[in-house]
Amino acid sequence: MRTQIVIVGSGPSGLLLGQLLAGIGVETVILERSSREHVLGRVRAGVLEQGTVELLEEAGAAARLHAEGLPHSGISLAFDERLHRIDLAALTGGKHVTVYGQTEVTHDLMDKREAAGLVTVYEAADVALHDFDGAPFVTYAKDGVSHRIDCDFIAGCDGYHGVSRKSAPERALKTFERQYPFGWLGVLAEVPPADRELVYANHERGFALCSMRSTHRSRYYVQCPQDDRVEAWSDDRFWDELRRRLPEQTAASVTTGPSFEKSIAPLRSFVAEPMHFGRLFLVGDAAHIVPPTGAKGLNLAASDVRYLFAGLRDFYTDKSQSGIEAYSQKALARVWKAVRFSWWMTTMLHRFPDTGDFGQRIQEAELDYLVHSQAASTALAENYVGLPW
Ligand code: APR
Ligand code: PHB
Repeated sequence: MRTQIVIVGSGPSGLLLGQLLAGIGVETVILERSSREHVLGRVRAGVLEQGTVELLEEAGAAARLHAEGLPHSGISLAFDERLHRIDLAALTGGKHVTVYGQTEVTHDLMDKREAAGLVTVYEAADVALHDFDGAPFVTYAKDGVSHRIDCDFIAGCDGYHGVSRKSAPERALKTFERQYPFGWLGVLAEVPPADRELVYANHERGFALCSMRSTHRSRYYVQCPQDDRVEAWSDDRFWDELRRRLPEQTAASVTTGPSFEKSIAPLRSFVAEPMHFGRLFLVGDAAHIVPPTGAKGLNLAASDVRYLFAGLRDFYTDKSQSGIEAYSQKALARVWKAVRFSWWMTTMLHRFPDTGDFGQRIQEAELDYLVHSQAASTALAENYVGLPW
């Protein structure tokens, strides 16, 4: 079999790229290791930059997002027993973010792909990439039968644990990594959110975040030890700990209820350079991971897709190589800014083993400066809504 581009992975990166390429008549096959249900069962973050929304519009997959997504023009930082609002719109010339779960983004993109009759092979085992320095092809097994697909390019959209980055020549790849000495315990519950907007809390007991999926579904997180176990956290214990880390008034607005998802995620920053090897491109989590504090994971994936799509469009419409040659450098310039922002937000808001009383006061001073200096608030706001492309 032959197609123009094999996309490995049907997360948001792979699906969005496939949809944009379909719009210009470029044929793709997506190979996904898991089942559709498994991909849609993963709970991930839910804050979309305006640029991400625009790209989903271009892909024709933004109708439900516009109907159900919640536009937010601010966030709050909680410290010193008070909420301090950062007016994102006022500080960025009217920009806002949209709160809409990543699972829903994936769902909408899958529906579009299926409606257009485009091929996704779920439960594709043993995906292997070949000859991406020459005439590339991809092999895989489905129901015990081996298959081969020849193609012009391979897009490695298969996340951090995927096969694509591992297929790149080791000596050509440089990786950068930082592990954070804690995790996030996250809970989803069918209860109205504590605040209209997101609240990022710095507290002596550790970080907490009040987020949401809709006006009746809340997503909350508390910082926890890296080796903590979900079983150790009853719903009651979670709600108590969350409320202790929030200012009194916000804590009083937390509606508790049974959780229907509870999980612990580690925090890390990771970047692989370059993101382009011959006819193989790395996209999204396959090339980089950020801690969730800046809500940048999905937005960075979309930003990679935008650069790669532009390069591939120039290749197929004008026979120009320059866009795809520039992909890695352009994508990485934006990636590193988001890596810095996510690291900074994480550092400022969490309790580290060596934070101590001194570190806590330094964090509070930084936060106080941040909310009272227009220059500092603007720096946060323009990063949070998304830097220019
Ligand atoms: N073969 C085929 N598919 C694979 C393989 C493999 N060897 N390995 C992984 N995959 C699939 C996974 O099952 C997953 O569905 O690739 C997909 C990768 O999707 P994501 O991990 O969601 O990565 P990406 O599409 O880049 O999305 C980035 O997801 O992890 C979050 O915070 C991150 O929001 C960001 C977004
Ligand atoms: C979420 O809603 O899951 C979420 C929101 C903002 C973040 C991280 C996660 O920074």
